[in-house]
Amino acid sequence: MFDPGRRLAAAAQLVRGGGSIADIGTDHAYLPAFLILTGKCTRALACDIGKGPLLSAERALRCLGLTEKIGLRLSDGLAEVSPEEADEIAVCGMGGTLIARILSDAPWIRHPGMRLILQPMTHAEDVRGYLAANGFRVTDETVTAQGKRLYLCMAADYDGVIRELSPAVYYFGTLAPDRPENIRYLEKQAARLRKQAEGLRLTGSDPEALALIGRALACAGYLE
Ligand SMILES: C[S@@+](CC[C@H](N)C(=O)[O-])C[C@H]1O[C@@H](n2cnc3c(N)ncnc32)[C@H](O)[C@@H]1O
Repeated sequence: MFDPGRRLAAAAQLVRGGGSIADIGTDHAYLPAFLILTGKCTRALACDIGKGPLLSAERALRCLGLTEKIGLRLSDGLAEVSPEEADEIAVCGMGGTLIARILSDAPWIRHPGMRLILQPMTHAEDVRGYLAANGFRVTDETVTAQGKRLYLCMAADYDGVIRELSPAVYYFGTLAPDRPENIRYLEKQAARLRKQAEGLRLTGSDPEALALIGRALACAGYLE
C-alpha cells in the first residue's frame, strides 16, 4: 500500500470521508491519492498555485494509476474550486497565516457539513483565529512526529457559532499534555512565545500583543 508518511497519514485520519475532498497546495498529490486508494473518499481534486507542483502531482498519479480518479487544478487557494466539488477541504504543509488567508478568501466554505483538515507548519494561532471568527468548531488537534519534527494537524466543522478564544487556547490550542509529542510541541510553542515576548519587550512595539502572550503563557502554565 502507498505510504504518504506519518504527517499526511495523520491528516488523512481526520478526514470524515464518504464524499469529495479538495486538497489545496497539493504539491505531489499524496494526500488525495492516499484517500482515494484507501477508499476513504470517493472523489478528489488536487489543487496547486504552481504548474511545477501540478506536474509532479500528475507524475505521482500516473505511477499510482489514479489519473482518471483525481482531478488536477491550477488554483490560487480555492479560487477555482466550486462548492459542489468539495465536502471537505484540506490545506496542509503551509504557514498558518497563508492557510487563514486561503480560507478567508473563500466565504462559500462556511456552510454546515463542511469539514476542514488543516496542517499549519507555523503560526497555528492564525488558523485558530480564523476558525473561531468564522463559525468553525475545532473537533480534533493532534501532534505527529516525523523524523525530528513535530507536526500539528487539526480538523474543524462549520456550525456557524462565532467564538472568542482565550489567549491560552489561541496560542496553545486544546492539546492535552498527555502524550510525549503533545508535551514537546507545547514546550516548543512556549519557547517561541517567550522569544517573541522578549522581542516585543525590548522594542516596546506592541504592548497589547505582549500582554496577550503573557496571559497565554501564564494560563497554560509556561511562565518562568
Ligand atoms: C510545502 S508544499 C505542501 C504540499 C502538501 N500539501 C503536503 O502537505 O505535503 C506547499 C504547496 O502549496 C502550494 N501553494 C502555496 N501557496 C498556494 C496557494 N495560494 N494556493 C494553492 N497552492 C499554494 C505550493 O505551490 C506548494 O506546492
